[in-house]
Amino acid sequence: MIQRILVTGGAGFLGSHLCERLVNAGHDVICLDNFFTSQKTNVAHLLGSSNFELLRHDVTLPIFLEVDQIYNLACPAAPGHYQYNPIKTIKTSVMGSINLLGMAKRCGARILQASTSEVYGDPEVHPQVESYRGSVNPIGIRACYDEGKRVAETLFMDYHRSNGVDIRIVRIFNTYGPRMHPFDGRVVSNFIRQALSDEQITIYGDGSQTRSFCFRDDLVDAMIAMMGCEGDFVGPVNIGNPVEFTIRELAETVIELSGSKSDLVYQPLPSDDPTRRRPDISLAKSKLGWEPKVMLRDGLQRTIDWFQSIEMADYRPPTPNYG
Ligand SMILES: NC(=O)c1ccc[n+]([C@@H]2O[C@H](COP(=O)([O-])OP(=O)(O)OC[C@H]3O[C@@H](n4cnc5c(N)ncnc54)[C@H](O)[C@@H]3O)[C@@H](O)[C@H]2O)c1
Repeated sequence: MIQRILVTGGAGFLGSHLCERLVNAGHDVICLDNFFTSQKTNVAHLLGSSNFELLRHDVTLPIFLEVDQIYNLACPAAPGHYQYNPIKTIKTSVMGSINLLGMAKRCGARILQASTSEVYGDPEVHPQVESYRGSVNPIGIRACYDEGKRVAETLFMDYHRSNGVDIRIVRIFNTYGPRMHPFDGRVVSNFIRQALSDEQITIYGDGSQTRSFCFRDDLVDAMIAMMGCEGDFVGPVNIGNPVEFTIRELAETVIELSGSKSDLVYQPLPSDDPTRRRPDISLAKSKLGWEPKVMLRDGLQRTIDWFQSIEMADYRPPTPNYG
């Protein structure tokens, strides 16, 4: 059935792909964004579609819209972006959730929260299961993001329990792909940018820390499956790729696939950087019948091809904190 769907943060890396998928499926899509970490070019190709609408708005402020579904993705996601104005970051998660949950309650809309593996902090449990409550430093420099997302989950559950709001929560692990911001300072974009210009590739720590990387198409499939999931399953559910790679392996693969002449250089690990992160996706498999399909090498190749196709000068670093 055709739905009226609001996507907050809809001009961002994941949001723009989600909008594209929903528009192509014939839904009536409102993309809402304040363009803090994104650009209109991400959704410019959708502007001609009669079932797509673009709104400049900040989720920390109330807004009244009539919709059937809400995907709440608005929040800077890269450390260099969310640490730039940490108070604004936590306001975005907390006040944004309150405003959108209020809208969902008023409209009777189903609302999905894009939560994060960061709710697990620096985990003592591997791989991370949804029942693990996490190990977050509440006064560290990542707390504005991690704790903001944790409070957002709390708000979602309380609106669900107290007001019967139809919620869904997905916990997203590291996701990469075309249209990720080239200056987001995250490991995949840093490595590709450095490799393509034959600059030295910076590894923080000794490179033995592991991450799992999910390609954006797999992630968008899972978000849509979770939104469409009927019954009383509201999550949280982990969404990510469980295959673990060391940061050094990632760098070496990027160098190989891009044919780069870059060398590796090592710098100290930033504060509170988790040493391991890997999702247990058994719940997503059993409840949504979902698992990732795209292998790291294929996803990286598509991402490298996209980086080669863009004009880097068209992209503005949203904050000075990239590198
Ligand atoms: N990409 C990942 O690996 C990852 C991992 C975990 C969670 N997530 C979550 O998924 C969502 C999307 O992430 P992304 O990687 O696409 O990041 P992104 O930075 O590309 O997208 C976030 C979007 O939200 C917008 N935004 C920020 N603050 C806003 C505000 N106050 N009002 C309105 N719009 C605002 C930004 O301009 C941007 O378009 C985020 O909520 C993020 O926390 C992403």
